[in-house]
Amino acid sequence: MKKGTVGNKPENLTQPNIPGTWKAMEALYDSGKARAIGVSNFSSKKLGDLLEIARVPPAVNQVECHPVWQQPKLHALFKAKGVHLSGYAPLGSPGNTAAIKNEVLKNPILLTVVEKLGRTSAQLALRWGVQMGHSVLPKSTNEARIKENLDVFDWSIPEDLFAKLSEIKQERLIRGTVYAHETFGANKTIEELWDGEL
Ligand code: A2P
Repeated sequence: MKKGTVGNKPENLTQPNIPGTWKAMEALYDSGKARAIGVSNFSSKKLGDLLEIARVPPAVNQVECHPVWQQPKLHALFKAKGVHLSGYAPLGSPGNTAAIKNEVLKNPILLTVVEKLGRTSAQLALRWGVQMGHSVLPKSTNEARIKENLDVFDWSIPEDLFAKLSEIKQERLIRGTVYAHETFGANKTIEELWDGEL
């Protein structure tokens, strides 16, 4: 967004200077004001480009990640380059009006596994993330659901059922359409915004 503007109106969008911004973040890291620096919503292309020029590599890339949007390319960069993947919307953000309608917790393949394991859909989606090796950031305002979401560490999804989850048709649900505009900002289309990773 342009400096000093508020709200994601098209006219507030601007061209980001990622190398310049990263340099400033590295200076914060060097000064000790930040113990770690990272990025969010970076495609594998943007993360790869940043890794080419970064002196201090990003510790983490926080992105949408759940069984319906599994982010294999970012997982590969996590393994190869150590950029931790932190998954937001790990339940598919039910009720989020900015997300396109495709309910992760009602996905038919997920439900077949749920039935076999006797866990809830939310637990299965979160356990999938934990077993993939990334971190998951579920949000809840409800005590019982917060407890339910924490109960994912003393059991696991058996290998054959885990493999079944990789058959789920993939779709990015939180598409950031407000950040693409024909006239303003860096991206005319959401394909440009996500470097074709949709
Ligand atoms: P609530 O606050 O009423 O529990 P995400 O973390 O993927 O963005 O999803 C957040 C949404 O998921 C919130 O609307 C939250 O509602 C709901 N949610 C959180 N935990 C669960 C759960 N265990 N089962 C169903 N919905 C959940």
